[in-house]
Amino acid sequence: MFVPLSGADITETEKEHVSNVLNSGRLALGPYLDKFENIVKEYIGSKYAVAVNSGTSALHLIVKALNFNKGQKMIVTPFTFISSANVALYEGGVPTFVDIDPFSYNISQENLKYFVENNLEKNVKLFMGVDIFGVPLDWDKVYKLLPENVNIIEDSCEALGGEYKGKKLGTFGQAGAFAFYPNKQITTGEGGIIVTDNEELYDICKSMSNQGRGKSGEWLISERLGYNYRMDEMSAALGYAQMTRISEISKKRSEKAYNYFELFKKEKSVVLPYIPKETTSQSWFVFVLRLNLDWIKEFVSIPNWVVNYELPIKIIGEKNREEWKNIIERLRNFLFTFLKKLNERGVQSKNYFHPVHLQPFYQKFFGYSEGDFPKAELTSCLTFAIPFFSNITFEQQEHVYKVVVKCLQETKNEISF
Ligand SMILES: Cc1ncc(COP(=O)(O)O)c(C=O)c1O
Repeated sequence: MFVPLSGADITETEKEHVSNVLNSGRLALGPYLDKFENIVKEYIGSKYAVAVNSGTSALHLIVKALNFNKGQKMIVTPFTFISSANVALYEGGVPTFVDIDPFSYNISQENLKYFVENNLEKNVKLFMGVDIFGVPLDWDKVYKLLPENVNIIEDSCEALGGEYKGKKLGTFGQAGAFAFYPNKQITTGEGGIIVTDNEELYDICKSMSNQGRGKSGEWLISERLGYNYRMDEMSAALGYAQMTRISEISKKRSEKAYNYFELFKKEKSVVLPYIPKETTSQSWFVFVLRLNLDWIKEFVSIPNWVVNYELPIKIIGEKNREEWKNIIERLRNFLFTFLKKLNERGVQSKNYFHPVHLQPFYQKFFGYSEGDFPKAELTSCLTFAIPFFSNITFEQQEHVYKVVVKCLQETKNEISF
């Protein structure tokens, strides 16, 4: 049985709305753009929304609208999709990483406190708060820790519908961004959206998304530097149709997540996703399991300080770094051997994520290496996403569970260090 990693939930409703566009002949800047923006902002509870052609474009426009300039710093987690950090580079700024909490996978409050209290970087202008895998950041703590002059952007690209203490994600910064690639909770094919309560920010983002055109709509006059980040009508119609079904889609995803919790709950080799108590609604983007270090340590040699997650802010000293690299390499080898087996048996799975600071071009330009952000590095050698989408059947989930357990055992038998 082949089970894909993800899959969009498309019904006749979606087909009907997209056909409406094709039949109307108005393929860009038409009524569905407004309809989609309105339905999203009503759902989120924000005053304004700007639909664009990707989550990355949404984040880029917010960064630009907040006057982030060359040489300025932006705090961001290293354990995220690369564009959360790249948008700072687009503007000549510098992503400044703060390590994660190895259980929630979000930025670590302790590390952030240490970073702020020790004034580790001058010229920090932005905080890019990512709700990774739809798990809310502890926003109240973030507010308390950050200096007032630091603007907050919420990268809620993976978190549509999630809530922190009863409030929708996407609303915790000056603006929030959602992404709609087909593996997301809802899709527009390619697409993204900015949500904000700030009218000025909205006006600037709307204009920049459309070549810098002004409110008059004069086609050949640009008031500022802009981009073609517009969302087309087919995408907006698809997104609108998906949003009319958002409760149904979210409910299905929660049920599928619950099934995995039940299937894996007694399995000692893996750890299930952690949902902090402040999460009043969990939005399920991917289903990520973590290899259990207490299980792995029985056959892969790992020191106790790693098994107990007693990780420093940074690994210091050449000898320690060498040791760290070896540990990471052993774990990565286990994870990748296991994932290869899974994929060969038709259970499409992926390691989630490769830390941003270890992306080849970040290493090359900034000189990062293993040991700079140990919690993110360790996490990335342990975490993997298994097939998850709204229409996955229970039969498929059971199959995934069985194959995962089998492949873990086989990898264990093959690999011993
Ligand atoms: C956390 C995060 N930020 C930003 C993005 C960028 O979205 P897109 O791929 O639509 O540009 C994604 C998409 O996967 C994401 O997961």
